[in-house]
Amino acid sequence: MNLISDRTALINTENAFKVGPYIVALENAGHKVVKCNLGEPDFPLPVHVREEVKAQLDKDNTHYCDPQGVLGLRQAVAKYIGDARGIKITAEQVVVFPGGKPPIGLCQQVYCNPGDEIIYPSPGFPIYESFINYVGAIPVPLHLREELGFSFTGADLEKLITPKTKLIYINFPSNPTGGVATPEQLEEIADVIKRKCDPNVRIYSDEIYENILFDGAKNYSIASVEGMQERTIIATGASKSYSWTGGRVGWAVFPTVEEALLFKNLNINYFSCLPPYNQEGAKVAIESPKSKASIAEMNSAFMRRRDFVVDALNNMPGVTCQLPKGAFYVFPNIAGVVKDMGIDKAFAALPEDVQKTTSPSTLFQMFLLWNYYVATMDRKSFGQIGTENMHYLRLSIATGIDDLKLGMERMAKAIDDKAGFAKFIENHEHFA
Ligand SMILES: Cc1ncc(COP(=O)(O)O)c(C=O)c1O
Repeated sequence: MNLISDRTALINTENAFKVGPYIVALENAGHKVVKCNLGEPDFPLPVHVREEVKAQLDKDNTHYCDPQGVLGLRQAVAKYIGDARGIKITAEQVVVFPGGKPPIGLCQQVYCNPGDEIIYPSPGFPIYESFINYVGAIPVPLHLREELGFSFTGADLEKLITPKTKLIYINFPSNPTGGVATPEQLEEIADVIKRKCDPNVRIYSDEIYENILFDGAKNYSIASVEGMQERTIIATGASKSYSWTGGRVGWAVFPTVEEALLFKNLNINYFSCLPPYNQEGAKVAIESPKSKASIAEMNSAFMRRRDFVVDALNNMPGVTCQLPKGAFYVFPNIAGVVKDMGIDKAFAALPEDVQKTTSPSTLFQMFLLWNYYVATMDRKSFGQIGTENMHYLRLSIATGIDDLKLGMERMAKAIDDKAGFAKFIENHEHFA
C-alpha cells in the first residue's frame, strides 16, 4: 500500500519558494546574496492600509466572516475593476481568496474534466502548468514570442484551440516577462476566442500586475472587449499593487453569480473565510486616494531600476534583454552565454537522469547563485513543456539599486569565468 496518493505526485510547484533555503544556506555560510529571485515588491505596506488593519484588530474584527469575502471589499472590487475596464460588475460576482494564486487551481477544478485541454502562456506563472496534471487535464503551452515583446497573436492562439479546449489563461502585465498587451492585440485574441470557442470555454485573465506599469503603458483587459466579459474571469489582488504579499488577499470576478457561488462553496470547504481585518485593509487600499501616490512611488523606483538593469544586461556579452513595460521583472535571453561558456555542451554531457532535473539555463542560474551569490530564476521555472532549447533567466528588480549594481557586477564576472564554470560542473553539486 502506498502512503501517498497517485494524484499528489502530479502536482508541480513554484520554484521561487525552492531557492529560498539555498539563499539561507549561503547567508549562514557568511555570504551576501543579491536577491533577484523575489516576486514581491520590496516596499513597506502603505501606512494608511497598515493603520486600517490595526484599527480593525483593535475593534476585535477577528472572527469568522462571509466566505465569499466581506461585502464592503466585494463592493469596492466590483466598482474599481468595473470602472477601470469600462464594464459593469456586481459585488455578487466577486469572490475573495487568500491571494491571487488560489483561484488559478480552483478554476481548473471547477471548469475542467479529465481530458479537457488548458492553454496557458509559457513562459508564464508556474502555477498555471503546475495544476493541470493534478486535475487530469491536458497542458497546452502557448509559447510567447520574444520578437512580439513576449506576446502572442490571435493566429498563435487559434492553432492551439480544439473542441477539447476548456480554459485559457492570459496574463498581462506578464510574470516573468513584463510584457503588456495592446488593445489591438487583445481584440485580435478575443476575435479568435469568439469565433473558435464554445461559450462555455472560460478565459482566465490574470491581471495581478494591473497597476505596475511604465512609460505611460496602460492595463487593458480582454474583458473590456465586446462579448468577452461573459466568458472571462478577471483575477487580481492586493499582493503586488500595495506591496502586501503577506496579507493574502486576492479576488476574482466571475462571469455569473452562479459561478461565483460555486467558488464561495469551495472557500467554505477549504478555509471558511479570510481574516476580516485584512479584507477591511484591502478595501481601504482600493478606495483611498492615498494609494495612487504609493503605487506611483513604487513604479518610479521600479522604472529607474529597470533602466539600469536592462542596460547593464545588454552590455554583457551573450545577453540580450528587452525593456519590460510592466510588472517588476526582466527576462534576458542568455542563449549567447549558454553557447559561449559551453553550458550547452556541459549539459549534453550530463547523465540522462541528471539532465531531467536541470537545463542549461538552470546550470547558469545555479553557477550564478552558488559561485557569485546572485539569486535569479531559470526559464524552466516558468513552464517546462517544450522549453528545452530556450535559454532565459528572470531577474526581479524588487531589490534596492545598490544590490542591483552589485548583482550586475557579479553576473558580468560570472559570464567571464569559463574556468569557474568548468569547475562547478566537475564538482557535480547544485545542478538544480
Ligand atoms: C501572474 C501571477 N499571478 C498570481 C500570483 C499570485 O499572487 P498572490 O501572492 O497574491 O497569491 C502571482 C505572484 O507572483 C503572479 O505573478
